[in-house]
Amino acid sequence: MKKYLIHTYGCQMNVHESEKIAGILRDEGFEATARETDADIIVFNTCCIRETAEAKIMGHIGQIKKIKKARPELKVAVCGCMSQQEGAAQLILDKFPFVDAVLGTANLHLLKEVVAKADNTSKNRFFNRDFLGDNDNRPVFRTSGTNAWVNIIYGCNNFCTYCIVPYVRGRERSRPAKDIISEVNALLDEGYKEITLLGQNVDSYGNDLKDGSNFASLLGELGKIGGKHRIRFMTSHPKDFNQSVAEVIEKYPSLCHNIHLPVQSGSNSVLKRMNRRYTREQYLELVRTIRTHLPDVGLRHTAEDIEACYALARQEGFTHINADLIAGLPGETEEDFNDTLSLMEEVRFSSAFCFVYSRRKGTPGYSMENQVPREVKTERIKKLIALQNRITKEISKEHEGKVFEILVEDKNEKFENTYCGRTDGGRLVNFKSPTDIVGQFVNVKIKTSRSATLWGDLITEEK
Ligand code: SAH
Ligand code: SF4
Ligand code: F3S
Repeated sequence: MKKYLIHTYGCQMNVHESEKIAGILRDEGFEATARETDADIIVFNTCCIRETAEAKIMGHIGQIKKIKKARPELKVAVCGCMSQQEGAAQLILDKFPFVDAVLGTANLHLLKEVVAKADNTSKNRFFNRDFLGDNDNRPVFRTSGTNAWVNIIYGCNNFCTYCIVPYVRGRERSRPAKDIISEVNALLDEGYKEITLLGQNVDSYGNDLKDGSNFASLLGELGKIGGKHRIRFMTSHPKDFNQSVAEVIEKYPSLCHNIHLPVQSGSNSVLKRMNRRYTREQYLELVRTIRTHLPDVGLRHTAEDIEACYALARQEGFTHINADLIAGLPGETEEDFNDTLSLMEEVRFSSAFCFVYSRRKGTPGYSMENQVPREVKTERIKKLIALQNRITKEISKEHEGKVFEILVEDKNEKFENTYCGRTDGGRLVNFKSPTDIVGQFVNVKIKTSRSATLWGDLITEEK
């Protein structure tokens, strides 16, 4: 059998797209391999969100030259966001003449043609940047265990001034609700216990549809599906996440109380220059709304009185709000940066992905004045990470002694009879079990915590 190897970079959108690539190649009779030297086709599913990501990928593609020289029949394809950038496809083809094809993100099906070609002369290398079809309703080879990814909206209309995504992923395109609902139903019937809805901005869902559906109505439809499972979603944009979304999450137990709500900065002047279209005050108000509506459901097991439990959860901030933060947007002053630190203290994010600002060609940020020197950005990101680590540790500690419902995701191979899974809020928990309970919901009492990870004892098996 012929073999494929896919290198995936970037966000969950790409992780899921690699499952679609695998689906296409398996349809053509290929099977997976983990070794580049064994592969008949190597696919790079790329990301261009930051310069560091791009440099890493370019380095990796370069390394394939040797393998291709030894085995000229090997096919090499580059797809993903990097190939959608203006001029990038040509650049890749010029720099790496051994690359057989560069494909746009909505043209993965062309891989069939790539593998069908006998040679790799330049006439066989195609490139297409349109978004027709978005690879929906094609075979998917899922590799994410108990969780299944489901696209609900593609693209982004927000044009944050630092970000390349709207240029490489195009305008927002929502999938019809009926397609999403039937995909989710089919996945649950197949036995998946967790569904993660994907979009650059899930809260924009439905804006481009003419049938009145929106994110809250979609969540409501999905929440009604019976049975024991979890539904997560990412990413939310603070300008669009509204009370009706919080209310619908509150209403249906399957909808997880874990919200990825990137704030990017705590300074109003930076937020304005980022074109985020909310202020620090509006963000904090939104956090309050979310915390009022969504205490951590995992805590229900510890209190007889649900009201008391909700009050406790609210007070302890157990609804998990996660953020992305950027250090060093052009013109960010020490005072602006301190506003980000104080916002982090105020909100107490469960986790935060902290990034150094990366100057992306084609974005308004590229030509902004007062680019922040690299040393200053490095110093600032260190401070962001140190502060978040402290908060993450403190929140983990607050879990100790409490009982949480865990969806068991995997065996933890590092330890004997040990399994791991997540709380509804998304915290990773390790615990021992004499039997294989992957895919089950269990209750675990937290004993100790180590930075972001919790350790506990199994209380009951299958609920
Ligand atoms: N659509 C999502 C996130 C998409 S990109 C949202 O709006 O939140 C993921 C994260 O990468 C962003 O939240 C941002 O923090 C970071 N990011 C995007 N462009 C960046 C850049 N040029 N430099 C550094 N970080 C960036
Ligand atoms: Fe990028 Fe902003 Fe769109 Fe997120 S909302 S993908 S940060 S432009
Ligand atoms: Fe990267 Fe594209 Fe995702 S640029 S972060 S892979 S949408």
